[in-house]
Amino acid sequence: MNISIVGVTGGVGSRVAQRLRARGHSVTGIVRRPDQAQELARQGATAKIADVAVDPVETMAESIKGSDIILFTAGAGGQDGHEATTAVDGNGPSKVAAAAKVAGVSRFYLVSVFPEAWREKRMDDDFEHYMVEKKKAESQLVLTDLDWVILRPSALTDEPGAGTVDLGLAKIHREIRRDDVAETLITLMENPGITRVILEATGGFTPIDEAVAALIT
Ligand SMILES: NC(=O)c1ccc[n+]([C@@H]2O[C@H](COP(=O)([O-])OP(=O)(O)OC[C@H]3O[C@@H](n4cnc5c(N)ncnc54)[C@H](OP(=O)(O)O)[C@@H]3O)[C@@H](O)[C@H]2O)c1
Repeated sequence: MNISIVGVTGGVGSRVAQRLRARGHSVTGIVRRPDQAQELARQGATAKIADVAVDPVETMAESIKGSDIILFTAGAGGQDGHEATTAVDGNGPSKVAAAAKVAGVSRFYLVSVFPEAWREKRMDDDFEHYMVEKKKAESQLVLTDLDWVILRPSALTDEPGAGTVDLGLAKIHREIRRDDVAETLITLMENPGITRVILEATGGFTPIDEAVAALIT
């Protein structure tokens, strides 16, 4: 498979890319800067330069042309204010979904967030804006006729993967390792029959292949 990844330099995106390449898949990373493109090339991936926050649908379509799958795991990270969160987390997925339509790519995987993440805490305005934008992105993707899968991970950690998760339609928001999110995404991609579903994933005790197999009815 040829997978284009928006957010390939990020915590989840880089882990997915590394694992996909190790399994013999082709990876195209959509990056913002030439030095990122050079680093990807060094790792054996193709790179296309595009900024989902500013480039038009046509540019995004050109960068993902020829892919079998698009993975959107980008996020502004709350660093550059509401505008960046709106442009990347909120409007980014629907822009790339429109690009997918133009480029003739039908399979789209979106990394989102649990809607009830940290509802028990008093979060700041930036976080609340992020939550609104993430939900907007999900709603817009669901309305497309793409073969989408939305994966909502709980709070991400960088501990080495456990190889196990708790995956399903509704889970309790706790923590999950980025390695395990990456492995779950790839296992979902390897099961194209699982489509047009929103899944929640948190740390758990079910081997990832079994957790994904249990979704197949
Ligand atoms: N942190 C958590 O606990 C948590 C929980 C649930 C869900 N999530 C979501 O999970 C996803 C992955 O999280 P992560 O921590 O792995 O992400 P991350 O390490 O913060 O990486 C974010 C990625 O988005 C890219 N990006 C940012 N702005 C962009 C733009 N304008 N155009 C193209 N790419 C852009 C970054 O590229 P650059 O290298 O160019 O900056 C980077 O590759 C995100 O969508 C996040 O919102 C996070």
